[in-house]
Amino acid sequence: MQDSDIRRRKDQHLDLAVSGDVAFHETTTLLEQVRLVHDALPDRRLEDLDTSVELFGRPLRFPLIIAAMTGGSARARQINLRLAQIAQQRGYGLGLGSQRPMLTDPDAAASYRVRELAPDVLLLGNIGVVQARALATSRLRALVDQVGADALCVHMNPAQELVQPGGDTDFRAGADTFARLVAELGLPVVAKETGCGIAPHTAQRLHHAGVRHVDVSGAGGTSWVAIEAQRATGGQAALGSLLREWGVPTAASVVFAKNSGMRTIIATGGVATGLDAARAIALGADAFGMARAVLQVLEREGMEATHRWLDELERSFRAVMLLAGAGSLPELQRCPRVIGARLRSWLRLDAGHPRRRRRSRT
Ligand SMILES: Cc1cc2nc3c(=O)[nH]c(=O)nc-3n(C[C@H](O)[C@H](O)[C@H](O)COP(=O)(O)O)c2cc1C
Repeated sequence: MQDSDIRRRKDQHLDLAVSGDVAFHETTTLLEQVRLVHDALPDRRLEDLDTSVELFGRPLRFPLIIAAMTGGSARARQINLRLAQIAQQRGYGLGLGSQRPMLTDPDAAASYRVRELAPDVLLLGNIGVVQARALATSRLRALVDQVGADALCVHMNPAQELVQPGGDTDFRAGADTFARLVAELGLPVVAKETGCGIAPHTAQRLHHAGVRHVDVSGAGGTSWVAIEAQRATGGQAALGSLLREWGVPTAASVVFAKNSGMRTIIATGGVATGLDAARAIALGADAFGMARAVLQVLEREGMEATHRWLDELERSFRAVMLLAGAGSLPELQRCPRVIGARLRSWLRLDAGHPRRRRRSRT
């Protein structure tokens, strides 16, 4: 594919993500099925809550990673620079969008170079597993080093590819690619979905390949099938409308990842409020990710409004922590919770797995 085509596609993705009808219609994250239990005697001050966490050797003040979105065009550069400023100022992590354009266009690198603006931020590089399969590990390591990232997210997006005009259809050797990168990259490798989530068998195969870090990017938020369906024509558009609701909800994906033995779990996919975020962490996530919601407020309303919106998000997260009786994120992970029937029916998928019987508290 030509560089200019990739750039055009990326900018179309941004437009659709900001203004299009691209959320799941019926599928929810199932985070609403997690009821944290009220503690009428919190015995602590709101300002003493500790929301910090360390991931991949970087401290986060608040457990939010602005999830991978963009890179490769002038517009993408402006977005990445603003997201980096926000992440630096507020103590969040930041995911760069797919670095595929850097493979063919030397000028593309500028749109991912945010390290100077964000010297302390946990920065995650990004590439598709299909691209990674064809590249030497040294080439991938160079991609990460060029942008000063701390870890590499390797994304899996087969549903999106099948609906995307000209998308990939050969997904062979994905697990082998992960095994090679985990063994050779010399930096943490994060297996990342993009909105269809992680099933128990997928989590187990990733674990078997040596992967210990996962961004579940589950169903219930942005539907990449819906985004591509709007760009597709004919049979691919029809496939897109058929598969719009496809995927494993975010809440179930987090539990599956936990039960498979993953060490780091990032809960992305439709996390919309501080309450959702707290629920995801209670299920076992170490941090949560948000993509489209941040982009929308930033593109529509600008930096100041984004900071106000993030203040509200943090305020609600902290209120939920206090009311659930948690003073820190590890305490939040141990909080009592009531799980609704719809989430339970997903969790039954994993019921026979031996690791679950030993480890799971859900
Ligand atoms: C405009 C846009 C571009 C994205 N590009 C990438 C990408 O390049 N690589 C990737 O791993 N995920 C990408 N994603 C997926 C997000 O990182 C995230 O997994 C997904 O959108 C679900 O989160 P959300 O419901 O908060 O949007 C993109 C998402 C958006 C909205």
